[in-house]
Amino acid sequence: MTGAPEQQTLVLIKPDGLKKSLTGNILTRLSETKLIIIGAKIAKPSRELAMQHYYEMKDKPFFEELVRYLMGEFHTPRVMALVYQGEEAIQKVRAVCGATNPEEADPVSIRGAYGRITTRGIYENVIHASTNEEEAEREIKLWFDPDELVCEPYPVKEESVSNGRRKAWA
Ligand code: CDP
Ligand code: MG
Repeated sequence: MTGAPEQQTLVLIKPDGLKKSLTGNILTRLSETKLIIIGAKIAKPSRELAMQHYYEMKDKPFFEELVRYLMGEFHTPRVMALVYQGEEAIQKVRAVCGATNPEEADPVSIRGAYGRITTRGIYENVIHASTNEEEAEREIKLWFDPDELVCEPYPVKEESVSNGRRKAWA
């Protein structure tokens, strides 16, 4: 025990990772962190979800291309979304991922090993990982409902729905 804070972090295996059959390799690399997975699914990102995910990049010249990349328009319209939990989860996952630019990333890192820069200048870097706790919370709530995680890292509220009750992020 190091006493470091327990964190959650959102990981997306991006559409290029799925298209290139890298899912198993990437999960194996992530298991080096010894973190636990508290949620996992395959999702088909809508344009709205992709835009919300990359909201902070909205003023970048490559934003539209980035949204189309995450939606899978260049590969396959799927991502694998995962929530990892444990001490210093955010930094541990980012370390295994490597730098954003796959050419600058450590060749042994996931992005260094599998990423590429397209001729249009987009970094197809096969994986997303949250950068800080605030971003992780926003992203986890964006991609997962409370019922899809095996624990509740954030407060929840009960909501009435037509066919009973469901949980939503409070
Ligand atoms: O993903 P990460 O947090 O490392 O980087 P970011 O600065 O939040 O950028 C989000 C994503 O935009 C990257 O993962 C790349 O796929 C893409 N990007 C790009 O294509 N070209 C850049 N110059 C910067 C980011
Ligand atoms: Mg980022």
